[in-house]
Amino acid sequence: MNVYDSQRIASILEKLGFSATSSQPQADIVIFNTCHIREKAAEKVFSDLGRAELIKQERAEQGLDTIIGVCGCVVQAEDEQIAKRAPFVDFATGPLTYHRLPEILARIGHQKGQPIIDTEFPVESKFDYLPDHQASGACSYLAIQEGCNNFCTYCVVPYTRGVETSRPVDEIIKEAKRLVADGSCELNLLGQNVNSYHGEDNNGKERNLAYLLRQLNEIDGLERIRYTTSYPADVDDDLIACHKDMKKLMPYLHLPIQSGSDSILKAMNRRHTSGDYLKVIDKLRSANPDLGFSSDFIVGFPGETDADFQATLDVVNSVKYIQAFSFKYSRRAGTPAALMPNQVEEKVKKERLDILQDLLFSYQLKFNKESVGKVMPVLFDMKGRHKGQLIGRTPYMQNLHAELGKECLNKIINVKITDATTNSLSGIREE
Ligand code: 5AD
Ligand code: SF4
Repeated sequence: MNVYDSQRIASILEKLGFSATSSQPQADIVIFNTCHIREKAAEKVFSDLGRAELIKQERAEQGLDTIIGVCGCVVQAEDEQIAKRAPFVDFATGPLTYHRLPEILARIGHQKGQPIIDTEFPVESKFDYLPDHQASGACSYLAIQEGCNNFCTYCVVPYTRGVETSRPVDEIIKEAKRLVADGSCELNLLGQNVNSYHGEDNNGKERNLAYLLRQLNEIDGLERIRYTTSYPADVDDDLIACHKDMKKLMPYLHLPIQSGSDSILKAMNRRHTSGDYLKVIDKLRSANPDLGFSSDFIVGFPGETDADFQATLDVVNSVKYIQAFSFKYSRRAGTPAALMPNQVEEKVKKERLDILQDLLFSYQLKFNKESVGKVMPVLFDMKGRHKGQLIGRTPYMQNLHAELGKECLNKIINVKITDATTNSLSGIREE
């Protein structure tokens, strides 16, 4: 979602006459789009800001002004900290108010020495104010839903991105058609809780994600559709049916369980048990036996015992994820779990993460190795490090590199997989 937000921020700046540079000392404006989900991500902002301040000083010695801004969830949660720890910042705005950037930039200079901070939860939708943005190549992100009402006890998202809101169906279809006309053949629909999408159609009727997917499926030139991130308890039968018959829907689903232990899931305030989750996986697999799954896991949640952790390993052994993201529990101020007793020692968290990741990687490698010899349609959207090499993604989100000419860039090409490691595949064009 942050990548998408950054693209939209860039489109506001382009409208104002700026263009992107990869050299920070050349930049008249530097904006950090920030993540607050775990402590490490949030702390990184302050070290990045420290470096930006030095560049701002060097540019000032050459008579050049530099505007430094911070956007994203760190602002929403730590606005006072930013003003205190980084007083040289010119402005800071949360993830729901960055459409106000033109006004904010116009105010800079009138209020020197005092950062402009906007962390209000606005009544208006930013999407009504953002200028159109260009496709980011063959694969584009498209936010359809934002915020979350689930309040998992470890998570800052409901506090930083606010309550769940869904964009209207027509607005999304319009943005999708524009991105496709602009060169995208794959769209990845985004939302913190994407499958609880409930946007209105033109008649004011609430529609679900399955309805939206079927509308998008009709767009000529759109070849591949993905959506992320889904909440297990909100996977409904309509959505499962899409995985049975919608050819454009890719056979890969990110469906986080977080933990395999029912008592930990309860303490996390998740609305599902591990049994409920496995039932959803079964139903999805019955609809499409070729579906591959990924998940998020948290190890070392307060009170997690060895037996709880074993239950997580059991789920992994049952589902056999083809990819996954796993994290040590990070204590986030303001969330209920931060105040829970029986916080798990750092050493134990690390040991459990290592064990879990070894197991996850073994399934990922197994899946990749089993892909060798198969022919898959690969969407090549990047140049590789070596000349004559392109990088793309299989339907299962595996990275694949192949020796191919530039004319194959941004196209879907059939590739025979010849080799596999844990993180990537290689292959040759299948004529
Ligand atoms: N500590 C560790 N991981 C977290 N996540 C969310 N909050 C925390 C936290 N406090 C993870 C969850 C979520 C993913 C985006 O980040 O696994 O699905
Ligand atoms: Fe956070 Fe996801 Fe839980 Fe919402 S569902 S509170 S975004 S972990």
